[in-house]
Amino acid sequence: MTTPYSRFIRWTHALAAIAIVFQMAISLIMDHPHTKKPMTIDGGQYFAWHEWVGLAALAVIIAGWLYRLVQWKREGHGRLFPWVDASGRQTLGRELLQFLRLRWTTLPVDGALAGSIHGLGLLLGTVMAVTGGIIYFGLGPENKVTPAVHSVMDAHSFLATFMWAYLGGHAVMALWHQFAGHGSFARMFKP
Ligand code: HEM
Ligand code: HEM
Repeated sequence: MTTPYSRFIRWTHALAAIAIVFQMAISLIMDHPHTKKPMTIDGGQYFAWHEWVGLAALAVIIAGWLYRLVQWKREGHGRLFPWVDASGRQTLGRELLQFLRLRWTTLPVDGALAGSIHGLGLLLGTVMAVTGGIIYFGLGPENKVTPAVHSVMDAHSFLATFMWAYLGGHAVMALWHQFAGHGSFARMFKP
């Protein structure tokens, strides 16, 4: 039995996925506020889009978290964090071993390994959006980069590398499952 995703999770996932893909792509061409020099005109415009789409992503992610917390037990959202208890860690260890032995086809689609990776992706997306929100309020209307804001910008940039890895890995695995006949796209992207 695979997890049926509720409509709210499917919609918040789709909106967050679109926003995050946009954020990652625009980050490649945007400028950002500096301590001593102004932003370029185009780069500054792209940065303004990065701010607005990032804040929208933050709102969607917070809504998703509130929903998950309310529906935690009924919809089994604990599947995203199996490592919090001993039996979950045991299952995760067993699945990791299976993965390393290249027995991928025997791994459950919504098992402890897939759940943990999804959970880490969700936490990563949350921390990127929250650090972005802190940067937004820290910069203020004049886009002033104080030492504190600079440190949060460094953390935000550092996390971006892991988000690239997650996004690439997650999209490739989603396609792999789809073509292996597990219907992952239909399950997650139906309206
Ligand atoms: C889910 C939301 C967000 C994602 C996925 C995201 C992603 C990224 C990525 C990939 C970079 C480029 C990092 C690099 O290559 O060094 C970046 C840079 C940046 N982002 Fe975001 N961002 C998000 C939200 C926000 C928000 C809301 C703000 C608000 C101000 C923001 C402000 C910045 C700044 C200032 C930088 C430049 C950091 C630096 O290079 O020091 N981000 N972001
Ligand atoms: C970086 C942005 C993304 C994040 C943070 C993210 C996060 C997640 C999470 C947390 C789940 C599990 C949901 C749950 O168990 O409640 C999931 C499942 C899924 N995601 Fe994403 N996702 C992102 C982008 C994408 C993209 C771009 C695609 C399309 C290529 C995609 C396709 C899927 C599919 C098909 C599933 C269902 C997997 C299955 O059950 O077989 N995701 N995603």
